[in-house]
Amino acid sequence: MDRFKRVNNYDQKWIDENRMGPNPLYGLEDLTNQMDLKEGMRVLDLGCGKAMTSIFLAKEFGVEVWATDLWIDQTENWERIKEAGVEDKVFPIKGEAHQLPYAEGFFDAVVSIDAYHYFGTNELYLPWYLHKLVKPGGEIGIVVPGLTRELKGGIPKGVEEYWANDMFTFHSGEWWKNHWSKTGLVEVQLVRDIEDSKEIWKTSQFEIDEKLMEADVEDCLTFVMVLANKR
Ligand SMILES: C[S@@+](CC[C@H](N)C(=O)[O-])C[C@H]1O[C@@H](n2cnc3c(N)ncnc32)[C@H](O)[C@@H]1O
Repeated sequence: MDRFKRVNNYDQKWIDENRMGPNPLYGLEDLTNQMDLKEGMRVLDLGCGKAMTSIFLAKEFGVEVWATDLWIDQTENWERIKEAGVEDKVFPIKGEAHQLPYAEGFFDAVVSIDAYHYFGTNELYLPWYLHKLVKPGGEIGIVVPGLTRELKGGIPKGVEEYWANDMFTFHSGEWWKNHWSKTGLVEVQLVRDIEDSKEIWKTSQFEIDEKLMEADVEDCLTFVMVLANKR
């Protein structure tokens, strides 16, 4: 995947040690190619996991990142951040997406890779919890596992054996566009399926992901990118 000029400079062993599924830096590089990140901006990395994406954002764009996650301990992330030499730019926070400890209008941008579907499919999430944290005009960008088209007849053919209940949070780009647009709070500037999604999905360390991709004979599964500006 030669198009990932930035990701390809990172140590594969470091990525393998810290990813929590497919390599999240691929989706992040595609997303940030579309964003307008500038040095010194304040960025919320929501559901940052082991903070690889936060470290990438600080190194590549010189932004300040609030690396926020629920499952991964903030001290563990702090060690990783210091090892990467970005302790002046990345701040680890243990936080639940519905109880974020940030001031309204604090962030210039929000980024969320492979995490937003865990909480953001709820109609209330963007209006009640997230959009107020972003400055007017600020960007909100996500990459989530999703669908090339909405499911009409239940679980996609072929993948029944590997389907888990949390996969019902997967949706198409059009679904996400409508989900955000109808609130009137953001302007969706871009929605698209990530190129080479299957190859990216297979970079997961979990064997089941490889099997899932092979079983997806109808090409229903993909990664979806959504980018919007707060009005
Ligand atoms: C599959 S991991 C991805 C982590 C990271 N973004 C990456 O791609 O390596 C999903 C992450 O979402 C976070 N998450 C799930 N529900 C959350 C919630 N309610 N609030 C904050 N984070 C949440 C988890 O803590 C977890 O680290």
